Amino acid sequence: MKLLEDRIMKDGLALSETILKVDSFINHQVDLTLMQEIGKVFASIYKDKGITRVFTIESSGIAPAAFTALELGVPMVILKKQTSKILVGDVYQTNITSFTKGTNYELTLSAKYISAGDKILVIDDFLANGEAASGAAKLVEMGGGSVVGIGILIEKSFQKGRKRLQDAGYQVTSLARIAKLSRGKVELTEADV
Ligand code: G4P
Repeated sequence: MKLLEDRIMKDGLALSETILKVDSFINHQVDLTLMQEIGKVFASIYKDKGITRVFTIESSGIAPAAFTALELGVPMVILKKQTSKILVGDVYQTNITSFTKGTNYELTLSAKYISAGDKILVIDDFLANGEAASGAAKLVEMGGGSVVGIGILIEKSFQKGRKRLQDAGYQVTSLARIAKLSRGKVELTEADV
């Protein structure tokens, strides 16, 4: 997606060989006009796939997921990150380890917001090792739904997430794909859109 790629090249900051800082338009300050355009792009790709809910993982996936859900006319569900197993009510949980942040949490979905036969589009900001997206897919399947696609804003193609998700049979749509990062330098490769 040219608009996002151009913005990454203009405002993204490569902090190291693994971390791209996008605080000024995705992770801290949020450019809602850009998020709205992103929502339109994901919706145009998935509009005929019978999506019933858009799932995302708190917190930075919420803005693009909201605009995608709005465009598709379906609810958005925010998967929660809980620090421990808190089994209040009927919930599905799976443990996630973030290699980038060195954190560990229980990704949590209330059984109220997934039904057998649900067709889910998962949206998230970054794809690194695919831990969060794989966890989201697992929760969907625990609830009897299926994952129709996984939409990513920025894929770090030098990490294993995309391969992991595709090997598991999921369709991955990345709006920007980073081939290489080095301090102060971002190299993109061809995106899916
Ligand atoms: P994975 O799910 O693909 O395996 O990714 P990983 O655990 O390695 O990273 C998870 C967290 O780190 C996510 O944030 C993700 O957005 C963030 N992240 C990964 N790579 C980068 C990067 O290069 N730059 C930035 N800015 N963030 C990155 P999170 O814990 O879900 O937090 P939130 O921002 O959504 O609240």
